Amino acid sequence: MSQARIIDGKAFAQRLRDRLSLQVAALGEAHGLQPGLAVVLVGENPASQVYVRNKGQATVASGMRSFEHRLPDTTDQRTLIDLVERLNRDPAVNGILVQLPLPPQIDPAAVIAAIDPDKDVDGFHVENAGRLALGLPGLVPCTPLGCMMLLNDVLGDDLSGRRALVLGRSSIVGKPMASLLLAASCTVTTAHSRTRDLADECRRADILVAAVGRPEMVRGDWIKPGATVIDVGINRVPSLDPLAASEGRTRLVGDVAFAEAARVAGAITPVPGGVGPMTIACLLLNTLTATCRQNG
Ligand code: GUN
Repeated sequence: MSQARIIDGKAFAQRLRDRLSLQVAALGEAHGLQPGLAVVLVGENPASQVYVRNKGQATVASGMRSFEHRLPDTTDQRTLIDLVERLNRDPAVNGILVQLPLPPQIDPAAVIAAIDPDKDVDGFHVENAGRLALGLPGLVPCTPLGCMMLLNDVLGDDLSGRRALVLGRSSIVGKPMASLLLAASCTVTTAHSRTRDLADECRRADILVAAVGRPEMVRGDWIKPGATVIDVGINRVPSLDPLAASEGRTRLVGDVAFAEAARVAGAITPVPGGVGPMTIACLLLNTLTATCRQNG
C-alpha cells in the first residue's frame, strides 16, 4: 500500500520564520526600521486568547514589535473603531489585526473597513479582497497564502492547468484560496454545503483544499490517487479513548479523514502540524511586506 508524502508545515513555517528574522534584522541595520504588529482582542474567547498570545510571541521572536490591546467583552463598536483609527495613525504600527470573532454588538465588516488597507495584514479589507480578485498586488489573507506556499513547495512553482477544488467559500479562506489558485492558472472549482455530488467533484481534483470546519468530512475514497491534499480544518473532537473522552479530553482533527486519505493522496498536510503553523508565519511575512511598502 502506498503512503502519501506528509507535508511538514511546522518545519516549513519554522524555516520561513528564520528567514524573516534575518530580514527583520537586516531592515533594522540598513534603515533603522523595526516592523510593529498590533493585535486587538475583544472579550475572553478562550481560543482567541491562545491565538493572540501565540501571535504576540511569534512577533517578538522574529525581532518585530508586538502591541497587544485587550478590550472588555462589553466594548462598543465606536470605541473599537476609535482604537483602530489611532493604530492607523501610529507610525510604530505597520500591521493591524483585529481578532475574530467579535462580540455580537460589533459589526466585523465595519471594523475591518476602518483598518488602513496598507496595514491590513489579515488581507480582509475590501480593498485587499478586491485587489486579490483582480490579480493586483495587495495583502493576501494569511491562511490561503500559507497553503499556496506549501503547494508550491510540493508541486513546484508552475501549477498551471491543474484541477483544483476548494471546499468552503468563506471570506477568510475559501474565496481568497480560489483566487490564488486561479491566479496560478489552475482550473478552479469552489464547492460548498449546497454542492451536488461533492465526492465526485473532489475525485476530479489534482489539488484539494478543505476548509469547511467539519471534522473528517472528506473520506479517503473522495480523493484522486496521487492528489495533493491541503487540510485547513482544525476541529476539536472527543478523545478516541472512551475513558479519556468521559473526562472531557479532546483531540484535534482536520476536515479530511487523514489515515484514509494518506493511503490515496500523493501528498497531504497533517492536523496539527500542517497549515496551522503557516498562518502565523504568513502573518509575520505580511507585516514585513506592509512595513517595506509603507517605507517605499
Ligand atoms: N480568527 C480566526 N482566524 C483568524 C484570522 O486569521 N484573523 C483574525 N483576525 N481572526 C481570526
